[in-house]
Amino acid sequence: MSHDNPHDWWQRADLCYQDQQLYFSGHKVKQLAQQFGSPSFVYSASRIKANLERIRQALNNAGLGRRSTIYYAMKANRFAPLLRFLKQSGLCGIDACSPNEVRHAISCGFLPSEISFTATSLSQKDFSELARYDGLFMDCDSLHAIRCWGEMKPGSEIGIRINPAIGISRSCNEKLKYAGCGTTKFGIYYEQFEQALALAEQYDLIVRKIHFHTGCGYLSSELQQLDHVFTECMKFVNIAPDITRINIGGGLGVPHLADDQPLDLEQWSAVLHKHFAQGDMHIEVEPGDYICKDAGILLLNKTYIEQKRDTLFVGVDAGFNIAPEPAYYGLPFQPVPLLQDDTPLTAMTVVGNINEALDVWYVNAMLPSNLQQHDYLALINAGAYSSSMASNHCMRGEFNEFLLD
Ligand SMILES: Cc1ncc(COP(=O)(O)O)c(C=O)c1O
Repeated sequence: MSHDNPHDWWQRADLCYQDQQLYFSGHKVKQLAQQFGSPSFVYSASRIKANLERIRQALNNAGLGRRSTIYYAMKANRFAPLLRFLKQSGLCGIDACSPNEVRHAISCGFLPSEISFTATSLSQKDFSELARYDGLFMDCDSLHAIRCWGEMKPGSEIGIRINPAIGISRSCNEKLKYAGCGTTKFGIYYEQFEQALALAEQYDLIVRKIHFHTGCGYLSSELQQLDHVFTECMKFVNIAPDITRINIGGGLGVPHLADDQPLDLEQWSAVLHKHFAQGDMHIEVEPGDYICKDAGILLLNKTYIEQKRDTLFVGVDAGFNIAPEPAYYGLPFQPVPLLQDDTPLTAMTVVGNINEALDVWYVNAMLPSNLQQHDYLALINAGAYSSSMASNHCMRGEFNEFLLD
């Protein structure tokens, strides 16, 4: 593995150049591209498992070994082979957010009792479908949800999603925050929490869990903020008498740029230890990004290279609609050549094939000046919130998906 080039910051044991060829999960990527064609999402099961095991280890290190559960947020990537692999791993349950997600998770082998359900703006039709799954655990995110669930399942145990009015996100990116940047729709605020508890009591609902998810993509530099979020959330836990579980949401991020300091799970574990090691609360965590994002690459065919004014554009044969995070959230997906040699690097802007101004994959990527001779590019970090958020915009929504060992 060679890191001589600072632009290769993303290299790691299972995603790196060997003899000038890019390898991913033990496969030569050029061969994958030739076999699978473009656009193709390729996921690594072993990387997914390693990511999960790292979180499990961190929970154990926080003193929560037997008092913690990981729920995979399937909104990040619902590719059926991937979900079946997760089920077989035995390492996690599922965080689902719609009746169709629940149905899909069950079709991939998960039991309703292995699913934690947290959603927003649910309809009567949603509630009545969800009520059919015995064992499914419902987190109510509004007074409306408590009322509807209470009418359907009086006497059952529920969670309440709360909004602590502070949030967390990668580099303070406001678009990735679910709390703390103005008033959001997510969860019940402190000033309405007593009312929520009283409403639950009215329906004999037992509030067993406090749930919060306040933002996405946090790295080591945001861990102090996570500490503050936990402190605020404990104010809710402390006034709800029957709580036995706390769900701290997802939000654990992976680096997108050379300057990003990866999330140090030892430090993360220390924050959890500080707040939860004492006592007997069961801690749930429901990451999506951290489990799948860096376990996926997107293989794209280069279509053209052309200088326009001050910019050298590289076109590829798929656009933001099949992996919207760079365009929607400003989260760049580093483009990576499949072949590495000593050719000098030049700044190029990688763009897709959609007629929208936001269809830009990466501005000023440093790519080999002989890129004309390359057929493909790989975009890294395409394992989460990519295929699962894809649309058929411009009728260019087709792609392939593969799960490697
Ligand atoms: C309630 C809830 N839990 C978990 C997640 C997963 O977040 P991430 O993929 O950032 O870990 C989300 C993401 O939107 C969410 O809304």
